[in-house]
Amino acid sequence: MISKLLQIVLIITFLVAICFFAGCHDESENPSVNFVSSKTADSNSLKHLQDTSSINQGKSLFQKNCGACHNVLITDNHLAGVIQRVGESYLKLYVTRQDSLIKAKDKYALELKREFENLATVHNFKFSNEQLNAIIAYLKKYSG
Ligand code: HEC
Repeated sequence: MISKLLQIVLIITFLVAICFFAGCHDESENPSVNFVSSKTADSNSLKHLQDTSSINQGKSLFQKNCGACHNVLITDNHLAGVIQRVGESYLKLYVTRQDSLIKAKDKYALELKREFENLATVHNFKFSNEQLNAIIAYLKKYSG
C-alpha cells in the first residue's frame, strides 16, 4: 500500500519535473518571439495610456471652457455627433476662429448663428493643437 503511494508520488514528481524543464526549454528556444510579443503588448498599452490621458485632458478642458453651455453626457445637446457632421479640422477652426468664419460668411457658421438667434460669438478660444486634439478625443469618445 505504502509502496503504491510512493510510486504515485514519484510519477507525479517526474511529470512535474518534465513540465518544468520543457517550460524552461521552450522559453529559451524562442527568446526573440517573446521579446517581440512583449514589446507589442507594451506599445499597445502605451498607446492606450496616451489615448486615455488625451481624453482626460480633453475632459477637463471641456468642463472648464465649454461645460457652462455644452454637456456631452446628455442626448439633447447640439454637440451630439458633431465630429461626423463637420469633421475635425472644421471643428478646430470653429472653436478657435468663429469670428473669422462669420466674417468670411461661412455658410455653416452663419446658419448655426441664425439657428441660435445670434448669440454672442464665443468660440474664439486660444488652444494649442494638442489641446484641440484632446478635446476632439473627448468628444469622439462621449459625443460620437
Ligand atoms: C457661452 C456658451 C458657450 C460656450 C462657453 C461654448 N459654446 Fe459651443 N456653442 C454655443 C452655442 C450657443 C452654439 C450654437 C452656435 C452659436 O450660436 O454660436 C455653439 C456651437 C458649437 C459648435 C457647433 C455645433 C454644430 O452643431 O456644428 C461646436 C463644435 C462647439 N460649440 C464647440 C464648443 C467647444 C469645444 C467649446 C469649449 C472649448 C464651446 N463650444 C464653448 C455656446 C457655447
